[in-house]
Amino acid sequence: MQILLLGSGGREHALAWKITQSPLLKKLFIAPGNAGTSSCGENVALNVNDFDGIRKFVLDKGINMLVVGPEDPLVKGIHDFFLADPLLNKIPVIGPLAKAAALEGSKDFAKQFMIRHGIPTAAYKTFDATNLEEGYAFIRSLKPPYVLKADGLAAGKGVVICPDESSALNEFTAMVKDSKFGQASEKVVVEEFLSGIECSAFVISDGSSYLVLPEAKDYKKIGEGDTGPNTGGMGSVSPVPFADREFLRKVEDRVIRPTVAGLIKDGLDYTGFIFFGLMKVNGDPYVIEYNCRLGDPETESVVPRIKNDLVELFTAVAERKLGTMQIITDPRTCATVMLVSKGYPEAYEKGKSIHGEDKVDGSMVFHAGTSRKEGEVLTNGGRVIAVTSLGANMEEALTTTYRNVEKIQFEGKYFRRDIGFDL
Ligand code: AMP
Ligand code: GLY
Repeated sequence: MQILLLGSGGREHALAWKITQSPLLKKLFIAPGNAGTSSCGENVALNVNDFDGIRKFVLDKGINMLVVGPEDPLVKGIHDFFLADPLLNKIPVIGPLAKAAALEGSKDFAKQFMIRHGIPTAAYKTFDATNLEEGYAFIRSLKPPYVLKADGLAAGKGVVICPDESSALNEFTAMVKDSKFGQASEKVVVEEFLSGIECSAFVISDGSSYLVLPEAKDYKKIGEGDTGPNTGGMGSVSPVPFADREFLRKVEDRVIRPTVAGLIKDGLDYTGFIFFGLMKVNGDPYVIEYNCRLGDPETESVVPRIKNDLVELFTAVAERKLGTMQIITDPRTCATVMLVSKGYPEAYEKGKSIHGEDKVDGSMVFHAGTSRKEGEVLTNGGRVIAVTSLGANMEEALTTTYRNVEKIQFEGKYFRRDIGFDL
């Protein structure tokens, strides 16, 4: 089978690494990929949102399956585009249709979905320019801190937590009236603040059945001790000690099963990954957000713990036979630390040479923002490289990871030294 994988992050390198282990694979192409994915298959210089370019490539090469890493092409309708085309509509797409990807693409849609299907989530109201005054009144009726969410995709920056009422009112004005996040904040969800501890659950769905993948915890803040601005994620661990058997049973009963049943009830045929951002509050799970894809850097810690053939799972999604399969999980702990460019998540420089990957032993190295130029590997993004290790327990996994983190060098390298500190 020939597979085209869309994306260029650490998530895609981890997926590519796993896909290439399948005997069902003949050749993997990654568009656009990074310096790491080129060791798993052939990188193709195509933008993930260039649907016409993707169409031409898929037909030219005789691609048999499309696996979509990031949310953007899903929310923009890449799956719908394939289904509507008589030459592409037999090619399975791993990733939902646009209507279902709206679970990530629109916070308001996701909240309505959760309320409609009785899925536990924070109380909320949605506002836009037509009911601005009601929005101010609603904010005044809540207790601090205040959670404001731009409805649309805002590159992970659209959620703002305000410590007091006046900053919340100002932020609300900036979002709705002054288009702080452009079109994405024309509508704003204002919701109750949930106090608890976060983790993420993942499933793969074929539209009728689903399989639960290992859970993970992501470290979103740039600074140690969970301080400073949000990033795409600075590290991850799987499994998550506080997500014990009882909690995971609640997650499946109250969140996962009702979500998949709700999608079916609403006529939203969902083939692909669902990512549940959860808050554990007094032992109970609440949904903070849905994503229509896997997380990054969660994937780097989740995928190495899945013992199944990933291509076999994808094929079962395409044939709607997931119900006949089981996920086999590696009981070990997997820990990932992200190496990032100095300045990230604000402005940073690119093009720094990366050295030392050949000295790594006992860890996996997943590239994120890297490129290759004349044989040299260069930094090409904020998040540069993920170092991932398996260990008998979290301490062991983290020790191996941090030992290898020291071996990879580039100018301006920064990473958090405290991944797993709170567990
Ligand atoms: P999101 O982009 O939806 O993942 O939100 C970003 C982060 O904001 C989450 O990871 C949480 O840490 C935080 N957050 C979002 N919603 C809430 C909420 N209702 N209560 C507390 N924290 C929240
Ligand atoms: N690491 C968070 C995300 O992928 O959304």
